Amino acid sequence: MKRVVVEGSQWGDEGKGKITDYLSEKAKVVVRFQGGNNAGHTIVFGGKKYALRLIPSGIFHKNTVCVLASGMVISPAAFLEEVDVLKKAGFDTSKIMVSDRASVLFDYHKTLDGANEAQLKGAKIGTTGRGIGPCYTDKASRVGLRMGDLINKTSLQKRLKSALEFKNRELRSFNLPEVDFNSLYKECLKLGEKLKPFIANTAIYLQEQVKKGTKILFEGAQGAMLCLTYGTYPYVTSSSPMANSIPLSCGIPTNSVEYVLGIAKAYTTRVGEGPFPTELFGDFADELRERGHEYGTVTKRPRRIGWLDLNVLNHAAGISGINGWAVTLLDVLTGVDEIKVCTKYTFEGKDVTTIPATLEEYEQYKPHYITLKGWKEDISKVKSFEELPKNAQTYLKTIEKYTKVPIAMFSVGPDRTQTVVLHDPFAD
Ligand code: GDP
Ligand code: IMO
Ligand code: MG
Repeated sequence: MKRVVVEGSQWGDEGKGKITDYLSEKAKVVVRFQGGNNAGHTIVFGGKKYALRLIPSGIFHKNTVCVLASGMVISPAAFLEEVDVLKKAGFDTSKIMVSDRASVLFDYHKTLDGANEAQLKGAKIGTTGRGIGPCYTDKASRVGLRMGDLINKTSLQKRLKSALEFKNRELRSFNLPEVDFNSLYKECLKLGEKLKPFIANTAIYLQEQVKKGTKILFEGAQGAMLCLTYGTYPYVTSSSPMANSIPLSCGIPTNSVEYVLGIAKAYTTRVGEGPFPTELFGDFADELRERGHEYGTVTKRPRRIGWLDLNVLNHAAGISGINGWAVTLLDVLTGVDEIKVCTKYTFEGKDVTTIPATLEEYEQYKPHYITLKGWKEDISKVKSFEELPKNAQTYLKTIEKYTKVPIAMFSVGPDRTQTVVLHDPFAD
């Protein structure tokens, strides 16, 4: 396979960064195609831990081209800061490309994100507060700016003026201070100068790479259940993390995607509000949270914890055509006597295995579990499927059985080396 996707199959934080970093060794180009710095992707190797928000997790491999494609929303300041941190740590940032069509995320988007959340009160989404929703809203409302506007003075002046007319009206409605055109314009000119070396027509670049048969890895952010269309709306993000959105977000032909690797945590977590049928509370949830260090990379919020939900995995697999699973954080379940897995829900006396469109219905779904025996052996150094304790093997086999998707990889610790490959997505 030449073009592989790393897709989150739950509510984000499945370990996409770790798996992307691992697979990047084989790829020449690694692409982030949606979202912005709401993502927090953690990578661990050589005794060090790195957290990426905007830059693809392929950056740690020499010679890898890292593309921030057109479907992304990018805060120029956050991007430049991330480049700086990576440079200081000794990594080559000269092969980063930013799409001229990617949306510019301004500070006023962050301000409006906060204001919208405050207005929602008890019904708040629990966003990361990074301005993602307001920035995508502007894109859809046609009042957004693109990265290309930052390096074209005439365009910048025109677009920013018209954007601020709308945005200042909105800020006034919240009794928030307006944004001054002149000072933001000057700031944008400076940012444009700094961004110039990175900005390119990445669609044309990626089309050429597809034609050449270059190995490309697409790194999703968030997860299927946070998809704007297929997630638990409105408790979702404002883009689609599904592989289906790649061709459009990157500007490449529809049939470009060849293999979708679904990243699935061995249990489930969620940050922010919204329904979560297999959620656990109390001491056991706290124990798993500590063991898995389940605190948000971006916001440091404690993540909500629950059992693995196979209906969620099937939902993701059905939409994006997942070809194989990478099951992560399997080691966190070590020592749990009995592990539950949700195989179906019950609703109004009937069995259901699909995710409904309305939240009001989903909130009433009761999870139905099967119980599997746990294992006590330390699995953090396991190098093959056969080395896993029998009960851990059965756990992975159960995922295969109910989803009819094979396990391609599993992960037994945060380090790059704690990864076991059963089927290399780039191999076929
Ligand atoms: P992402 O947003 O999908 O990239 O995931 P995050 O990086 O936000 O969260 C995953 C967390 O789990 C990070 O702290 C990783 O270092 C860690 N992690 C990834 N894989 C494993 C694993 O197999 N075992 C353990 N214990 N931690 C892991
Ligand atoms: P990675 O890529 C987990 C969640 C937020 C909130 C909802 C909307 O690290 O998996 P937003 O700021 O996007 O408008 O928030 O989406 N969310 C994430 N949850 N991992 C993420 O990214 C997330 N990005 C957004 O918590 O519930
Ligand atoms: Mg994350």
